[in-house]
Amino acid sequence: MKLKENLGKIKNISKDQFELLYEISKKLNAPELEENLIEETLDLVIQVVDAERGLFVKYNEDSNSFEIVAGRNIRKESIDDLSKFSSGILQRVVESQKPCLYHDVQTDPSLSQFDSIQIHKIKSVLGVPVLCDGKVWGVILVDSQINRKEFTEENLFFLDFVSNLVSLSLNKIQNFQALRTENILLRSQVERNVELSDIIGDSPTMKKVFNLVIKVAATDATVLILGESGTGKELIARAIHRLSLRKDRPYIAQFCGSIPDTLLESELFGYKKGAFTGATSDKKGLFEVANGGTFFLDEIADISPALQAKLLRVLQSKEIIRLGDTKPIQVDVRIIAATNKDLKQLVNENKFREDLFYRLNVFPIEIPPLRERRSDISLLVKYFIKKYSTKEIKLLPQTLKKLENFYWPGNVRQLENVIQRALILCDGDTITPEHIVIEDEENLLEFKGTLEDFEKTILLKRLKEFNGNRTLTAKSLGVSVRWIQLKLKELKTDDSINE
Ligand SMILES: Nc1ncnc2c1ncn2[C@@H]1O[C@H](COP(=O)(O)OP(=O)(O)O)[C@@H](O)[C@H]1O
Ligand SMILES: [Mg+2]
Repeated sequence: MKLKENLGKIKNISKDQFELLYEISKKLNAPELEENLIEETLDLVIQVVDAERGLFVKYNEDSNSFEIVAGRNIRKESIDDLSKFSSGILQRVVESQKPCLYHDVQTDPSLSQFDSIQIHKIKSVLGVPVLCDGKVWGVILVDSQINRKEFTEENLFFLDFVSNLVSLSLNKIQNFQALRTENILLRSQVERNVELSDIIGDSPTMKKVFNLVIKVAATDATVLILGESGTGKELIARAIHRLSLRKDRPYIAQFCGSIPDTLLESELFGYKKGAFTGATSDKKGLFEVANGGTFFLDEIADISPALQAKLLRVLQSKEIIRLGDTKPIQVDVRIIAATNKDLKQLVNENKFREDLFYRLNVFPIEIPPLRERRSDISLLVKYFIKKYSTKEIKLLPQTLKKLENFYWPGNVRQLENVIQRALILCDGDTITPEHIVIEDEENLLEFKGTLEDFEKTILLKRLKEFNGNRTLTAKSLGVSVRWIQLKLKELKTDDSINE
């Protein structure tokens, strides 16, 4: 019955309205939804029903209020003031969930004298609900002013048809947007898990490090990774690159410690033919090779003052000059630097440029030494066993205890070596404490000297392991820095081990 009735009404729709319905359905069905689709649809509707203005609002059920999605007048201008439309009609459409045709607005007793002049000039209004999931999503409304014609039932039916088309595509748009959001979320989660999957750690401090990595990866900020040797600085640098927008561009790592100055300089900055004997042709530096990508400068504290100045230029003006050349070349590289030294202390001692320090220290990430996150040890051990053995290898509780109690001056790298060695030593399927051979410990057990010599040996050895850093040495020995200073004075070896 309803269908028949509707079909009857459709027959009454004029040709131009029919054509418009066809136009709109094509627009709404396009695979790519255009940004100003709603505005364009409103313009067409205004034109066909000969209205003065058109409005498309979203209805908020909780606050029982409306928000303009699009508002247009006959001159195709946007209207963004809802008070210029009759809210009474909008409410009526929401309540009845049915199309509404309304004449003689100015005689409506519900209109107060304070309503805008615009409303008082309105002759007739058409409002239809836009439904989504069986609820009123919003309202399409058109109105006509006193000097124009009145709307007809046919116009109402036409507008209802338009609203049905919009409803259909609203579902499509909403589903699509929900899917897209979900997809982006899932993808970033998968990427994080994959990119961080080779960095083992469950301790609160490592979780903090992972969070910082994820946050900074999304930016182009310079990162300074701090931590003792073997804590995983390089691993973190690579993860930052892989999680960043530069992931498909080059990642280049350069070790800067104990490399002759000129060699390092020509590696990093390249050279011009004839810059020095042996420079038989122009050569690109690594900074140029890394263009668009990430550059990891490992052991940054060791670079010479001359190179520090050149590096500052890369960070400040993003340009390099090849050796023997004068022409600067623009490069776009994200810098990640790492050091196991106390850079601030080096700045205080005038061994490292302060301005370069601040340029590098934009986003510091400190990786704690392994002895400060012993809860990670069992995870790491399992990880390394899997990495280096195809067999199912068990670990005695005493073995794990021994590993967890050691102070690991060489951090994860040392633990990795110890496990590799244990796997070679162990013939069966269980690693016992005897398989855990830590060079340090062996030496100590074989020590033949006096207690004083013993103290001296340990102190000097530990100092060396920490690159002469007294704070770290003191921490690892469980003594104060003052104690170390006194001992060194006592032993009169202060000069020989000065950093
Ligand atoms: N959290 C970790 N999970 C797994 N392997 C690690 C971890 N930290 C360090 N390693 C391993 O230890 C070794 C040293 O790491 P590296 O990044 O070179 O340390 P650093 O640059 O701080 O000296 C590498 O073989 C690395 O794979
Ligand atoms: Mg390293």
